[in-house]
Amino acid sequence: MLAHGRASLLTMNTLESFTPSIRIAVVGASGGIGTALVQLFSQHPRVAMVYALSRTPCSVVSPKVTHGKLDMTDEESIASCAAMASSESPLDIVVIATGILWSGETLKPEKSMREFDAEKLSQVLAINAVGPAMVAKHFLPKLRKNSKTVLAALSARVGSIGDNRLGGWYSYRASKAALNMLLKTLAIEQARLWPQSIVVGLHPGTVDTGLSRPYSKSTPAEKLFSPETSAGHLVTVLDNVCQEDSGGVFAWDGKRIEN
Ligand SMILES: NC(=O)c1ccc[n+]([C@@H]2O[C@H](COP(=O)([O-])OP(=O)(O)OC[C@H]3O[C@@H](n4cnc5c(N)ncnc54)[C@H](OP(=O)(O)O)[C@@H]3O)[C@@H](O)[C@H]2O)c1
Repeated sequence: MLAHGRASLLTMNTLESFTPSIRIAVVGASGGIGTALVQLFSQHPRVAMVYALSRTPCSVVSPKVTHGKLDMTDEESIASCAAMASSESPLDIVVIATGILWSGETLKPEKSMREFDAEKLSQVLAINAVGPAMVAKHFLPKLRKNSKTVLAALSARVGSIGDNRLGGWYSYRASKAALNMLLKTLAIEQARLWPQSIVVGLHPGTVDTGLSRPYSKSTPAEKLFSPETSAGHLVTVLDNVCQEDSGGVFAWDGKRIEN
């Protein structure tokens, strides 16, 4: 559980733990959860600006949303988006909502070791672990220094080594476990530099998006979140995390997930 407070439903007072005029970057703003986060943040009265950064354009149109093109495999695009998003004022929140589980007919989560392939593991690691680390490299220096800030990356419960009871999905599991280690290590460095800087991983629940759809058919309806429901929970978790939580991975309900 989070050190302070429980996850609860989103209210007008949510996000009060941040400065009153919040500036946010959402990386992966074209995805199911990313789009819902941009929408939700941009409608919140405490949010001044949302930078919707993505490879494919994000569909949200609002005077409080600025769009930028970012490819997780292109460090230059990450650096230039970080510069653009912080050109007027430092950022308060960065959410990395990119990720890959499958792609077309060629990349699928492995059912057994027979399907394991080094190239495919590299492809998944590049998007799910290396990309978020590059985002952290360029965006952490752009965060506000004198109040609470959060850099959060969407991880997944299946990245937990302790929680792995079913096996399978070698590349995806390994990429999220690597992501969790990168986040923990970043949290240690940030705590030395800027004690109010928090770095966490977030598990959004099972969410009805393009990423999960081929694999969520057996999920009971009450356990399958819409992107909007998941985004609401995640924003509440971002509001409730504090310094003692930095380096941890938290589920949509605020419960800590073991590494
Ligand atoms: N959905 C779930 O049930 C679930 C459960 C646990 C964890 N998660 C995690 O939640 C995160 C978001 O997933 P989602 O469900 O919202 O999936 P999604 O709808 O498929 O969105 C994935 C996002 O990743 C972006 N992306 C992929 N490769 C990229 C690249 N090279 N450069 C830039 N962006 C790239 C996609 O951009 P394009 O639009 O350009 O392709 C898209 O914005 C992922 O990290 C996923 O692992 C999801």
